[in-house]
Amino acid sequence: MSNLDSSRGNWNSKIGFIVAAAGSAIGLGNIWRFPYVAGENGGAAFVFIYIIFVILIGLPVMIAELSIGRNTEKNPVGAFKKLFPRSLWKIIGGLGVFTGIGILSFYAVIAGYMVGYFVKIILGDLNNITSFEQADQIFKSFSANPYISIGLFFLFIFLTVIVVMGGVSTGIERWSKILMPILFFLLIALAIRSVTLKGAMEGLVFYLQPDFSKITLTTFARALGQALFSLSLGMGTMITYGSYISKKDNIVTSASSVCLFDTLIAILAGLVIFPALFAMGMDPAGGPGLVFVVLPSIFAKMSGGIIFGAGIFLLLSVAALTSTISLLEVPVAYFVDEHGWSRKKAVTLMGIITFFIGIPSALALGSNYFFTTFIKENFGFLDFMNALFGNYSLSIGAFFIAVFAGYKWGTHAVSKEVQAEGSLFYYRRMWAFLIRLICPIAIFIILAYIAWTGNYF
Ligand code: PHE
Repeated sequence: MSNLDSSRGNWNSKIGFIVAAAGSAIGLGNIWRFPYVAGENGGAAFVFIYIIFVILIGLPVMIAELSIGRNTEKNPVGAFKKLFPRSLWKIIGGLGVFTGIGILSFYAVIAGYMVGYFVKIILGDLNNITSFEQADQIFKSFSANPYISIGLFFLFIFLTVIVVMGGVSTGIERWSKILMPILFFLLIALAIRSVTLKGAMEGLVFYLQPDFSKITLTTFARALGQALFSLSLGMGTMITYGSYISKKDNIVTSASSVCLFDTLIAILAGLVIFPALFAMGMDPAGGPGLVFVVLPSIFAKMSGGIIFGAGIFLLLSVAALTSTISLLEVPVAYFVDEHGWSRKKAVTLMGIITFFIGIPSALALGSNYFFTTFIKENFGFLDFMNALFGNYSLSIGAFFIAVFAGYKWGTHAVSKEVQAEGSLFYYRRMWAFLIRLICPIAIFIILAYIAWTGNYF
């Protein structure tokens, strides 16, 4: 056992684990994806449902994943296999391995643009922005350049590969520990600037005052997908990360803090984006380019905007990196554990495969007409991958993980693994209720509705 432990690696400390899990959760999902999905789905009403889902579905599923991971000390496929050797449950793990590659393939494209914007702001390219049309134009022509898009995408995959090759505790932990708190404070500063812009009030109302008449089941579907995506759930990331935590750690409190930090950052990102957006008279349904247009427009209105801008794009790149690491770690852990590959071989091969799968996404923000309008106008290949892997695959995965933890492996087994004592006793009962009833039923209704209406995108 101890032999196995040392070859797979472990987190250096409890706080190291929380920071790494939060590093996986906090990323472009919070700052790039959350605002534009909220904007497209009615603002405050979406935010409201999102928060409910984090509490009722996200937290219980995270506890389930972490418990499965720590108990088995395996990747998602190996974990199901170890618990129930000759069953079909390992397919859910396999879906997670695919999903990891699928998400990474478009995520790293956006992450590459973050690096690109960091360089652009330092070079002074974003200095003289006077209107959002101009900011919009700058992003459009930037992302429509195939060499830049693919080059930055390649760079980001390369960075991810380098860090993951270094292994669990040395690479991932060290990065996250220092930089995440800085990101938090920079966002607070930006939110203050954004909220105090002239005309910001309307944005605050859109973002914070729910109009419940706008809610449809589609809103629920998007909020579910966003909650799972943002918390890195439904594909076994937290099974994999859980396999590296020590038996002494308290899973319930760790999972709660990750959910809390992640949600705080997302809410904060909305407070940066929406007031500024309305102050500048922009359309909240701006799609994937939204932050690349709004953020530079805010910097242009700030003293020291360049420093802030450079800081924020650098930290966003790092936040993205701690997430891409966790995405790549899932397939890598699978090939290392189950097929006996060396870490180096698994990382290199997965990196190359992801790069090729991601090329259409890199060409989907203007470089190539076919990929840019892959599904319809304004809904290209990147959006397609995002919906397919970032919403549906995660939702399906989370459904089966909930059923597995609630019925197959069983709430007793999970409780034993969780070892929540004292005051957490009551949460344990509530957890059992959520994971057995609320999670599967809610997810099932949402997926059935989407399948029934054919309203996939
Ligand atoms: N949670 C990450 C983010 O918000 C993305 C992610 C999804 C990472 C799924 C791992 C697994 O940016």
